[in-house]
Amino acid sequence: MLTRITALLFGGLLLLLTQPILTQSTPDYTCSLTKPCTLGCWVCGMGPTFCAARNCTSECNAKSECDPGWGIEWSQASKCPLNVCCSKFGFCGTSEGFCEGKTVSSPQCPGGKSADQRTIGYYEGWNLGRSCGRMAPEDIPLGYYTHINFAFALVNPTTFHIEDMGPDTAALYDRVSALKSKDPDLKVWIAVGGWAMNDPGPYRTTFSDLAGSTTAQDAFFESLITFMRRHNFDGVDLDWEYPVAEDRGGIPGDYDGFVTLVRRLRERLNQTGKVYGITITLPASYWYLRGFNLNDIEPYLDWFNIMTYDIHGTWDSTVKSIGPYAFAHTNMTEIQQALELLWRNNINPGRVVLGLGFYGRSFTMKSPDCLQAGCEFTDGARGGECTGTPGVLSAAEINTIIANGATVTMDEAAAVQIVTWDSNQWVSYDDAVTLKKKLDYANLRCLGGTMIWAIDLDDGTLIDALGSDLSREKSVLTSRPARIPDFDTPWEEL
Ligand SMILES: *[C@@H]1O[C@H](CO)[C@@H](O)[C@H](O)[C@H]1NC(C)=O
Ligand SMILES: *[C@@H]1O[C@H](CO)[C@@H](O)[C@H](O)[C@H]1NC(C)=O
Ligand SMILES: *[C@@H]1O[C@H](CO)[C@@H](O)[C@H](O)[C@H]1NC(C)=O
Repeated sequence: MLTRITALLFGGLLLLLTQPILTQSTPDYTCSLTKPCTLGCWVCGMGPTFCAARNCTSECNAKSECDPGWGIEWSQASKCPLNVCCSKFGFCGTSEGFCEGKTVSSPQCPGGKSADQRTIGYYEGWNLGRSCGRMAPEDIPLGYYTHINFAFALVNPTTFHIEDMGPDTAALYDRVSALKSKDPDLKVWIAVGGWAMNDPGPYRTTFSDLAGSTTAQDAFFESLITFMRRHNFDGVDLDWEYPVAEDRGGIPGDYDGFVTLVRRLRERLNQTGKVYGITITLPASYWYLRGFNLNDIEPYLDWFNIMTYDIHGTWDSTVKSIGPYAFAHTNMTEIQQALELLWRNNINPGRVVLGLGFYGRSFTMKSPDCLQAGCEFTDGARGGECTGTPGVLSAAEINTIIANGATVTMDEAAAVQIVTWDSNQWVSYDDAVTLKKKLDYANLRCLGGTMIWAIDLDDGTLIDALGSDLSREKSVLTSRPARIPDFDTPWEEL
């Protein structure tokens, strides 16, 4: 029954993937003309039992999300997005209440090494603006990364030309792509978009506008090709967060529009005579992933980068199905559920790259006596000295916190470390041990690699740890090895 509630929480924006933490007793499902349903929904059920003229008390034309067998007459669609399960009440979801024993078969590659082939690191082009914990392009630890995705460039809302985030970021493109001369195996790509591009503001509908117009696409393609040639980039990663999602500025046409955009981009890049790569990022939640036409877009991509991090954070407090309870943001159980959304659609695992975080999502806990996963939080933990944002800490900052005395507890099932300090501060993150578990998992599932958000949040230790678990050798650099970031260098000296 509880799972039905999840489906009904249309107000909750995020993460229907995540199971709700509902501890209250079973709610009252009965309703009448005078007694509204306590669930806050508009009817107590769907299908002929509730909606047929003789049976109905309110909202009689309501149609169920999917058809569990009572006929399309009572339903909006026969199947659920992404082939998730249709519950007997006519709602779509992935947990037991929806699926009732139906399971998803996941790819299996025991002893496989498929994920070792590719290690992609996103580089935050704005990181030099931090007061400390910076990583200049020349300080990027080389040898294990096969690809660096430079984050980000934007798309101009009017001309649809590639646009710099700002002069400081733009000044780094050539310095990052120049690393290819030190590490001949390295590829450097441009990541276009990012979460903030779809925030309210002038860029909010730019991706939708691009997806909906071949004229806009042509302008974008020419500008992108010039840009990639000028700055010596090898490919483009489109980070559209998120198509179709109304709360992210999306529209229904994005579903097929994104396919058109990527198909035409593939055709155009093919004409350049150089082999440019194309990837897109995917969210790890059913809520946002259902806006992607995965099957139709897959043939035109090199691979998908699935963002299996940020699964939880302070924003959970306003999501009705979750609430203000602290959970790890890179939880293996939930990563597995996210990947199952792909397996439900027969996506080739070799074209899936697993996201890893070199940072933690943090909370200030309500009570120092309740510090386990699932305990209540009031806010993000205090911002780190370098990253300065409550609710998030870089791996480098977490290492400092641990060195200064903190309690570190590994959650085996979630394959994540939970660090607590200063009585009520809490952060989940991945260290050498849990990164290895995630890499092993990526190999077990035959995935095509791992990707990291973000290179510059590491103090050099995590990439070394992850790299030493790979079955391929560190590439040999043609000049002196990169330095690890200097946490004390004042900004002016960089
Ligand atoms: C009304 O509900 C009953 C009992 O659930 C069901 O058998 C019947 O088919 C429904 N529809 C109509 C038109 O009566
Ligand atoms: C682009 O080129 C690749 C490699 O030659 C080819 O396999 C693919 O079909 C081409 N795609 C399109 C859309 O032209
Ligand atoms: C991991 O996810 C599972 C399933 O949602 C949940 O029960 C568990 O508490 C989570 N663990 C952590 C450490 O957040």
